[in-house]
Amino acid sequence: MNVVYLIVCGAGPTMHAAGFVEAARASGWDCHVIATPTGAAFADLDALEAASGHPVTTEHRKPGTPRRDRPNADAVVIAPATANTICKLAAGIADTYALDVASEHIGLGIPTLVVPFANTALTGRVPYLRATATLTEEGVTFLELAEHEPHHGGPLAEQFPWHQAMTQAAKLAETRRSEPEPTATSWSGPAEPPPTSNTHELPESR
Ligand SMILES: Cc1cc2nc3c(=O)[nH]c(=O)nc-3n(C[C@H](O)[C@H](O)[C@H](O)COP(=O)(O)O)c2cc1C
Repeated sequence: MNVVYLIVCGAGPTMHAAGFVEAARASGWDCHVIATPTGAAFADLDALEAASGHPVTTEHRKPGTPRRDRPNADAVVIAPATANTICKLAAGIADTYALDVASEHIGLGIPTLVVPFANTALTGRVPYLRATATLTEEGVTFLELAEHEPHHGGPLAEQFPWHQAMTQAAKLAETRRSEPEPTATSWSGPAEPPPTSNTHELPESR
């Protein structure tokens, strides 16, 4: 079964994120939800756990304890993505469990879709614009919504495009599967060749 990780942040649409889980399940995907600490405060954790059949994860495991028994992801969706998490992700900052998971999966080449939800006071700032450009350069895909001004996000939060996000994540995963695996002969770098398949070591953050 295909697996998608949904990362939710501290913004209004997170209250309705069970809509994504339901879209994933209806498409035959297993969905595991990860929340930033602020995202967890916005989320209906009971609804997410009931819809996904899995606990919502917000913290790293305690060092020395076993890794979580969670299947590898075929796609990662960060939605809603706050300006804060987008800027930190682009800068390589991983001071939340959610950022660690996102960083490692981008590094592993797992298709990652970001659906930003932030007002124009935040999205117009140079750090945000640089962050989205950096992440795009790294291969991250953005699903851009209509802009909204400060204090006008409420109605949009209720119309968040959960189904569209799931459809796009499935397309990204399908595209990745259809791409030829990199081989030693196609690798032009000077040192070690890239991994030849997705049989990578599980991310440390698991
Ligand atoms: C009621 C409320 C609504 C918020 N809405 C947004 C939002 O839509 N977009 C955003 O980028 N930040 C929003 N914030 C600010 C973020 O929650 C804040 O930047 C937080 O540090 C984000 O943490 P995270 O990125 O780890 O989830 C909101 C905060 C509050 C209290």
